[in-house]
Amino acid sequence: MTLTAVDVIRTKRDGGRLSDAQIDWVVDAYTRGVVAEEQMAALAMAIFLRGMSAEEIARWTLAMIESGSRLSLPASRPTVDKHSTGGVGDKITLPLAPLVAACGAAVPQLSGRGLGHTGGTLDKLESIPGWRAALSLSEISAQLSSVGAVVCAPTDGLAPADKKLYALRDVTSTVESVPLIASSIMSKKIAEGASGLVLDVKAGSGAFMKTVEDARVLASTLVSIGSAHGVATTALITDMNVPLGRAVGNAVEVAESVSVLQGGGPADVVALTVALAREMLALAGLSSVDPAAVLASGEAYEVWCRMITAQGGDPSAPLPAPGHVHVVPAPASGVVASLDAYAVGVAAWRLGAGRARKEDPVQAAAGVLCLAKPGDRVVAGEPLLELHTDTPAAVPGALEALTGAFTVADTAPAPGPIVLETIRA
Ligand code: URA
Repeated sequence: MTLTAVDVIRTKRDGGRLSDAQIDWVVDAYTRGVVAEEQMAALAMAIFLRGMSAEEIARWTLAMIESGSRLSLPASRPTVDKHSTGGVGDKITLPLAPLVAACGAAVPQLSGRGLGHTGGTLDKLESIPGWRAALSLSEISAQLSSVGAVVCAPTDGLAPADKKLYALRDVTSTVESVPLIASSIMSKKIAEGASGLVLDVKAGSGAFMKTVEDARVLASTLVSIGSAHGVATTALITDMNVPLGRAVGNAVEVAESVSVLQGGGPADVVALTVALAREMLALAGLSSVDPAAVLASGEAYEVWCRMITAQGGDPSAPLPAPGHVHVVPAPASGVVASLDAYAVGVAAWRLGAGRARKEDPVQAAAGVLCLAKPGDRVVAGEPLLELHTDTPAAVPGALEALTGAFTVADTAPAPGPIVLETIRA
């Protein structure tokens, strides 16, 4: 039977189910440029509006994996990876990858850059002088064997259909669709070849999924795709209503991660790092190792230094400092009752920490430091937030984003747990 893009679009537009043959054909033809961008845009919107069955999602994921090559990782240690659906101040990969490697697993963490209000792991690490994101396949393998942890850009050829489709979704308002997000994340992670995967599915104002219910649907979909492909997968649903930690941006998040690796850092960052490490170690068959003890021992910090050095970075070099710092004072005395993650993410982005278009540069030193967070006591006039930027003209836009973003009250409920739910296969 001859397949055409128009028929595939019509099937989904009218609420039908795409056959395996239709999915295989359309994903392959789009990757090769035979299906036009406008046809794929129409299909993505039809999927966004009509959804997909579990079988369609599994097949779509497979077709995206098959659009490129699969990595084969060295087998000297169990390989386990983590993926976050994206949040504000989410620097967890930075302390987590060396921690899990120090506990005995190998962590191949192929990461992305930020777009919009959520930051990108590679942008953060690039604030370390000399650090290089692009590694060849043989460099990834060698570093996994020698250091145990690699955080780098995806190699060319890994799920190229997703690379093209993600860029298209970004400009056609079709990102926030469970079938499209789930197949996008899992195609890259399965192609990467790790045997275990822990997903940090964020729920809240600073996340794609605003409610725990929506996050649960995405988490369950991700876990089922992993299981269907033989990858042991667990998802944690974690809170993203408040920024994670105190630092939001690039260099400031690296500095906060280093303090976690050196035994300090904000309690929520430490708690989430250890919780994700426990799940990763369980999937790697290393549940007898206590990540909290390994973190306290300083071994994870040693792995961090080796991991940064192996990629050309100098872990002891001073991080870039901002040209301009603007202080936002507490409007009243009392207890910080709320601090909205989305608003802080947009402020950091406008200060230069993020980009509006894929090709834009980011400022290494830009970001927001939250000097007080919900539950902290403040005195009127004392610094509440620090806005860091090299372009002072960006400050009014950041302040506008922060309008109504925090409240100070007489009392505030104690902050809730960071891990809200765990979804296992
Ligand atoms: N992250 C991805 O890799 N893909 C999506 O679609 C959304 C978040």
